[in-house]
Amino acid sequence: MAKTLADLIEARFGVESRAGIDMPAEGPLARILARRTQRRYTEQPIEDDLLDVLLACAQSASSKSDLQQMSIAVVQEPSSRKRIADLLPAMPWIAQAPVFLVFLGDMRRNMRVCERRGRKHVNNNLDTFFNTAVDAALAMQTFTMAAEAVGLGCCPISHIRNHMQALTDVLGLPPGVFPIAGLCVGWPQGEGRLAMRLPPAMVVHRERYDDGNFEQELEAYDRRRHEQAPIAPASQRHADKFGVVDYCPWSENVSRQLSLPEPRPDFGAFLKSHGFELA
Ligand SMILES: Cc1cc2nc3c(=O)[nH]c(=O)nc-3n(C[C@H](O)[C@H](O)[C@H](O)COP(=O)(O)O)c2cc1C
Repeated sequence: MAKTLADLIEARFGVESRAGIDMPAEGPLARILARRTQRRYTEQPIEDDLLDVLLACAQSASSKSDLQQMSIAVVQEPSSRKRIADLLPAMPWIAQAPVFLVFLGDMRRNMRVCERRGRKHVNNNLDTFFNTAVDAALAMQTFTMAAEAVGLGCCPISHIRNHMQALTDVLGLPPGVFPIAGLCVGWPQGEGRLAMRLPPAMVVHRERYDDGNFEQELEAYDRRRHEQAPIAPASQRHADKFGVVDYCPWSENVSRQLSLPEPRPDFGAFLKSHGFELA
């Protein structure tokens, strides 16, 4: 049982922490340090009023230049839910979650704003695309933090982007609007599992970027993480190509995944056919 935030940081990284040693393991920081993705939910519904509060929290996220270039689709129609869940049968949590949202980058609304004000929108470019994605991601994370604060659990679903056209059809997304990820939301069944993170020494750079200790840090992280929770054979990526091994550390799985193209139809081509110039 964690007594201090330092205990929670140790659990998160598997290394000793002086940070948080005098701070009790409670409140929002403790909740964030112990957070995890939840993929199993009870059948308890989420009340409409609570969902509306959480959606308002999502819209309270920061937004680049206050441009507010994101939208959120709430998918409640059983036939739409089924169409989306059927696209990804390996992820049954999509069908089981009482609420399913899709966070959207949205350039369209401000194009309409410009048109209405009699001005030409001349920023249909890569930067605007990027900004819509960042706004949508911040909204998704803010929703997640709010949901977890009241005891709900969430699971983002980027795999929906393997089916851009189908999703666009189900949600009726006009040009200039694209999904960054879905989000399953529900009351968690069980505790879920804490995923150990890379050590701050690899991620936090003081003043200048420094990955001089990459090899040693990665090796140690792989070992720590394997000892805490070995990657099960079923979760070893592309086992058909690379086989199942006794020692499958995090970096092995990452390199397996990234050495093959994601099964995703050309994302750039889809965006270009859907209103984004990406210039
Ligand atoms: C943008 C994004 C997309 C994700 N897509 C999926 C997904 O398609 N399916 C899934 O089961 N989990 C998905 N996840 C959840 C990650 O697998 C999870 O965050 C990661 O394994 C770390 O675990 P943790 O969140 O419990 O710490 C996604 C997470 C993010 C941030």
